[in-house]
Amino acid sequence: MLSYQHIYHAGNMADVQKHLWLIAVLDYLKQKDKPFTWIDTHAGRGLYDLTSTEAQKIKEHETGISKYFKTWQATSDLGAPLSHYYDLLKTLNSGNEVTTYPGSAYIAATLMRNTDKLFAFDLHKGEYPYLESALKNHINATTRFEDGFTGLKSLTPPILRRGGVLIDPSYELKDDYTKTAQAVIDAHQKWPQGIYMIWYPILDKKLHQNLLTPLKDMGLSKENFTIDEWHFGEVEKGMKGTGMIIINPPYGISNLMSEIKSKFI
Ligand SMILES: C[S@@+](CC[C@H](N)C(=O)[O-])C[C@H]1O[C@@H](n2cnc3c(N)ncnc32)[C@H](O)[C@@H]1O
Repeated sequence: MLSYQHIYHAGNMADVQKHLWLIAVLDYLKQKDKPFTWIDTHAGRGLYDLTSTEAQKIKEHETGISKYFKTWQATSDLGAPLSHYYDLLKTLNSGNEVTTYPGSAYIAATLMRNTDKLFAFDLHKGEYPYLESALKNHINATTRFEDGFTGLKSLTPPILRRGGVLIDPSYELKDDYTKTAQAVIDAHQKWPQGIYMIWYPILDKKLHQNLLTPLKDMGLSKENFTIDEWHFGEVEKGMKGTGMIIINPPYGISNLMSEIKSKFI
């Protein structure tokens, strides 16, 4: 049974890094008229109420999105992808505070066009109804109460070959790292041109090496394999940083995201 619920962490620094990458990749895919497929294997709720009891428990958003949102209000030209992130937050929040935070599936459904196709999976029976409800008016989105790895397998290669995947597991179990790596290796064999974004937490135990090692062993070129890590500095407990692996990153995006990172870390 799954216990992790992202509402306790929504809007934290990991979300900021992950969602900026997501927006940058979607921006790139939208540069061409040709429609594309996006697969979100671990979609979460779609929309998060940061005033809820759960979100208020640890208040991770306070050192994440809430901190930056305030400074962005005073900045006239943020530049993409920050400006697109900010615009979306402004649409959802009328005041000066972020009270509603968009998750990966909601961001994708909102930024994708009606001709594009989003598939969003979540396997938590408490979370899935929120996801379904958040995306119900988005005609480009299909939600499924199904294992995201199985869903990825059944969808690859997608009919619309342009596009990619966000894999954002909760890593509740130790073997989730190797399972994630294997799912990527299998999908990449069937859909080598897809863009794969794989998020991971940086913890004391460095368990993410179990994900990185097999993916590095795929032998992809430097241009086709990027790693972006944001280290939080001195943190007593919990996550020490947030990481993203990108397979087949769009041209120029790694440099763009290095500039973005320098605004945060
Ligand atoms: C880190 S959260 C996702 C956050 C979301 N991607 C975002 O950025 O807003 C991980 C989610 O994966 C779900 N989950 C865990 N195992 C899963 C599986 N095997 N298949 C699909 N969803 C799963 C959990 O219920 C949880 O909602």
